[in-house]
Amino acid sequence: MSVLLTGGLGYIGSHTAVELLENNEDIIIVDNLSNCKIEVADRIKEITGKDFKVYVADLLDREAIEKMFEENEITEVIHFAGLKAVGESCKKPLEYYTNNITGTLILLETMQKFGCKKIVFSSSATVYGSPKTVPIKEDFPLSTTNPYGTTKLFIEQILQDLVKANPDWSCVILRYFNPVGAHESGKIGEDPNGIPNNLMPYINYVAAGKLDHLNVFGNDYDTKDGTGVRDYIHVVDLSIAHLKALEKLRNMQGTDIYNIGTGEGYSVLDIVNAFEKANNLKIKYKIAPRRSGDIAICYADATKAKTELGWEATRTLEDMCRDAWNYTKNCIK
Ligand code: NAD
Ligand code: WQD
Repeated sequence: MSVLLTGGLGYIGSHTAVELLENNEDIIIVDNLSNCKIEVADRIKEITGKDFKVYVADLLDREAIEKMFEENEITEVIHFAGLKAVGESCKKPLEYYTNNITGTLILLETMQKFGCKKIVFSSSATVYGSPKTVPIKEDFPLSTTNPYGTTKLFIEQILQDLVKANPDWSCVILRYFNPVGAHESGKIGEDPNGIPNNLMPYINYVAAGKLDHLNVFGNDYDTKDGTGVRDYIHVVDLSIAHLKALEKLRNMQGTDIYNIGTGEGYSVLDIVNAFEKANNLKIKYKIAPRRSGDIAICYADATKAKTELGWEATRTLEDMCRDAWNYTKNCIK
């Protein structure tokens, strides 16, 4: 009996694989390597000393996915696989809809065919659009501002419709806030393709001398220092939330939705300062115009996850900055 991790060689999937293996779960990973390297599988094995099967396959390849279900007794799925770059999704919407939505439909149809009825889905705080107030609770209105976000919202709806029509299914939807940091071993972490879009990887590239300076997108927001505020969460804390979600999934029917964040908001300048302090480095930055589509403030009310899953984040901003840099300086050439 195994837990299948789609996209399990990616940033969040690989950290979750480590936590699952360390908790004696049997896992299988499927990944098409579109945004990761196969070597990540070896790193996961090195960290945990445990073995597992990896299928290099695309969720759009129905035959390959069915074969994987035929060859293994898969009891639950944690579905990370998807394209995730907001800007790219505006330029290539069809690619995003096909990969994320058709890929999910093929996965769900295959699960149904093989009697696997339990799924955890990686959703995102992006489904809250521009929230009117913070902290954000799970029952806030949903909307999106880009095709990537829309794929997340549609998939949430598909899952809820599926579970409604089939009460023997169960589904946990996790809405991640801003995952950052890396495993403390420094062996796995976030490895962006090309120039990073997200703040923490960008700062790491500046620290590594791969980029000259950070552009701080706007200092005229209605926040404590004028820069954007987000809920950054250590990727290991986020991974542990998946263990709790799996436990819940095994003892429930229906759909449950949880925000996975720390409940703390930090500004861009807070992150720069924390990174400098944690790593004893200087980060050159310049104030630049606002980035289109950005919101001023976004942070979670994570009470529901604490009450119902027994999960809460424990790692600090300092841990996030230290572990991110530890990975970058060890692994990113
Ligand atoms: P990632 O790109 O590192 O990992 C996703 C993995 O899925 C990659 O290894 C990629 O090769 C694989 N993949 C993509 N399409 C596939 C397909 N059709 N078939 C098989 N494999 C495929 O991204 P991540 O940061 O680990 O994110 C994991 C999930 O969490 C994604 O669904 C993402 O949308 C969601 N999420 C991420 C963030 C974030 O900031 N990182 C925030 C909220 C939600
Ligand atoms: C954080 C803050 C920027 C880069 C994105 C997705 C979201 C989710 C997480 C997947 C903002 C500022 C950034 C830079 C900057 N992903 N910034 N200079 O936009 O909150 O969320 O990743 O689901 O859907 O939209 O994260 O890290 O890009 O930005 O000043 O070079 O840092 O303006 O205030 P964001 P981010």
